[in-house]
Amino acid sequence: MNNHFADRMASVKPSAIRSLNTNPDMIFFGGGYPDASLFPVEALQKAYQDVLQHSGAQALQYSFSAGLPVLREQIARRMKDETIECSTDNILVLQGAQQGLDLVASLLVNKGDVIITEAPTFLGALGAFAVYEPEYETVPVDGDGLDVAVLEQILKTTKNVKFLYTIPDYHNPTGVTMSLERRKALIELANRYDLVILEDTPYREVYFDKAPPPALKSMDTEGRVIYLGSFSKILSPGLRMGWAVASEEMIRRLTLLKLGADTQCSTLNMSAISYLLENYDLESHIKKIRASYMVKRDILLNAMRENFSQEIAFTYPDGGLFTWLTFPSDFNSREFLLNCAIPQFNVGYVPGDAFYAKTPEHNHARVSFSTVSAEDIQKGISLLGEAYKQYR
Ligand SMILES: Cc1ncc(COP(=O)(O)O)c(C=O)c1O
Repeated sequence: MNNHFADRMASVKPSAIRSLNTNPDMIFFGGGYPDASLFPVEALQKAYQDVLQHSGAQALQYSFSAGLPVLREQIARRMKDETIECSTDNILVLQGAQQGLDLVASLLVNKGDVIITEAPTFLGALGAFAVYEPEYETVPVDGDGLDVAVLEQILKTTKNVKFLYTIPDYHNPTGVTMSLERRKALIELANRYDLVILEDTPYREVYFDKAPPPALKSMDTEGRVIYLGSFSKILSPGLRMGWAVASEEMIRRLTLLKLGADTQCSTLNMSAISYLLENYDLESHIKKIRASYMVKRDILLNAMRENFSQEIAFTYPDGGLFTWLTFPSDFNSREFLLNCAIPQFNVGYVPGDAFYAKTPEHNHARVSFSTVSAEDIQKGISLLGEAYKQYR
């Protein structure tokens, strides 16, 4: 059958994460899922019940490719609270932010065009982009976000750059947040080099001590930033609901692509979320989520301080679900995971080499604290520290 498949399938690979967690007893820090015990099940039950009772026929009918007008208006209002200038016409409701990654690549990328990503970057984005057969350039990330000087060098020397893909807030996989200075410098650079920025920020509202710096989109005066938001981490990922904020022209074209891809998001889900935004105290719910993850972040970082060799560095996330480990430069985190941590200690993470668009680094790991219980965080980190000592 192989000769039936399109050439592009050669670059479409299975997820390096989903194949790792095979043993149900393993303490696994690899998953990127939110904590399901935080999903507002009762509120959603009421929302669906009310929608079906009062406007059932309408909610079960086809509706609009760009999203229900009332929901687009509600999202626009939330974006204005973030000082992002926008109207309903700048909003497209999506099947999760993930759909935005696909549609934006479909909108902008011809085979062989260049996408610039952070190194490391979100694996799901690489999966979405792969179908369009891009080339990559990559920019390293430090504690303040992507290195703008390296980006400028790339922009100076590279042809056919279609966009920069960045996750400025509580980055997946590193957990770091782009500083305000970097954001300003990035927008200035984008304006100077006519660069489109895809700002992917599903964790933005899941901050701990303080809110993140303003969104790149809020600093965009030239319509060159496409912002992707998501309800996955503040409500539930099973709803498959996110949104894009972009110039009217981009939204019009992205809507045409969405029409071809899936016609529209579920009218019922859009109606239920709209109901929730109107009738439910989402802000209090988000505060609860923040508090819960912050407790876990603190337990995790304390456990790592207590149990890890000084040789292992880790980031301090101010929000989101992840921290990023850096082992000594000669250390291979995948070999350690597969030959020691999993088989001998029953503890796992995602090896960092999976997260690079171009040149993998082998001495990192992504550790997530969202779905692991406090007790298992302590136990798992102690096991990982022990495994490392034994392996080295
Ligand atoms: C950086 C990043 N972008 C996008 C997504 C996809 O989010 P959604 O569930 O809204 O499709 C994720 C999910 O983990 C993510 O980490």
